[in-house]
Amino acid sequence: MKNKILVTGGAGYIGTHTCIALHEAGYEIVVYDNLSNSSREAINRVSNLIGQPIEFIEGDIRDAELLKKVFAAHDFFSVIHFAGLKAVGESVAKPLLYYNNNVSGTITLLQVMAEYDVKNLVFSSSATVYGDPETLPIDENSKRSCTNPYGQSKLAVEHILEDLAVSDDSWNLIPLRYFNPVGAHLSGQIGEDPNDIPNNLMPYISQVAVGKLNKLNIFGNDYPTVDGTGVRDFIHVTDLAQGHVAALNYLEQKISLNEYKNDQEYSVGFLPINLGTGKGTSVLELISTFSKVSGQAVPYQFASRRAGDIASCYASADKAKELLGWEAKLSIIDMCQDSWRWQRQSPNGYK
Ligand code: NAD
Ligand code: UFG
Repeated sequence: MKNKILVTGGAGYIGTHTCIALHEAGYEIVVYDNLSNSSREAINRVSNLIGQPIEFIEGDIRDAELLKKVFAAHDFFSVIHFAGLKAVGESVAKPLLYYNNNVSGTITLLQVMAEYDVKNLVFSSSATVYGDPETLPIDENSKRSCTNPYGQSKLAVEHILEDLAVSDDSWNLIPLRYFNPVGAHLSGQIGEDPNDIPNNLMPYISQVAVGKLNKLNIFGNDYPTVDGTGVRDFIHVTDLAQGHVAALNYLEQKISLNEYKNDQEYSVGFLPINLGTGKGTSVLELISTFSKVSGQAVPYQFASRRAGDIASCYASADKAKELLGWEAKLSIIDMCQDSWRWQRQSPNGYK
């Protein structure tokens, strides 16, 4: 059965939620993570939630020798590649670290995959590859451009995957372009665990609501949006996790057809797909919903725009629905409720 999946970065925020969804869908998983932005406790909690130990290897995607041992020991159907650094500000300060980790690391992984003839990959890309969009909603054919090293590293990997697909049509490569993942597992046992003061909106709001931070700064109230604040396509991490299961199902289906009919018409090649809800929510709307569902005040003040931010960003989610049969189901209320449950139950994250 084609059911064994290598999950790089599987100890992280989106990875842990996806491991649970993969397990529930009947996949066998092996997690490979260097724990640079996660912890063993996250793995323990996933093991508890699924009721069995997870096979976990502490390792770096830049370590070709260790990767080779892992590929030699397992018969993988596909890799889901979450491993990467993701802080935009840090990437501006440390571009070499970001290019080395995210781009060189991915090249090393792809080389080992080629050597072991594992040519199916689901890659964590980002809506950041669209830069400042010319039209909304953003579909997969929109122009791509990035302004910071983090975004450039995602775009560079996309270009590498495109070239790889052209060079050899036995590769099946699906970059999933996530919009703004938020929320947490319904159990409240796993969620996003930022190291320092959060950069992103939802964890910042949660920490204000729980009393760890005093006040939220809203970066800009003069954007051409519904209320002047930024608009984003927030998507529940559980929906996002299901999007990965749908992508694997799609790969399996195409590859079976390909083997059966021996017809390259069914090869996947390079197939970018947005994972978003298709709906935009403003910063003020998110704060208001969060306050209602948590019963907590979220004090805020307006501050100047954050460098590099755009006014509005939301997905066309049609391609995911059409090809993968996937669409987001959970609402902004669910996202706030679940982020709040995680924050309240684990005010210090996994520490
Ligand atoms: P995360 O930091 O929680 O998870 C990433 C995991 O990768 C961490 O557990 C980290 O320890 C691991 N890792 C990093 N470098 C590694 C390396 N060289 N070798 C092995 N493991 C390594 O981040 P996340 O939010 O779960 O994001 C997962 C992926 O999705 C990332 O590639 C990120 O860029 C991408 N993404 C995230 C968002 C978001 O807002 N969270 C949006 C778009 C795309
Ligand atoms: N915001 C505030 N105050 C804060 C934090 C954020 O007002 O303290 C605002 C931002 O200005 C923006 C909105 O909230 O208007 C969302 O900001 P986030 O930082 O939560 O998310 P971004 O859309 O800026 O970026 C995120 C990830 C990127 C990823 C992108 C698209 O950080 O890595 O989504 O997936 F590329």
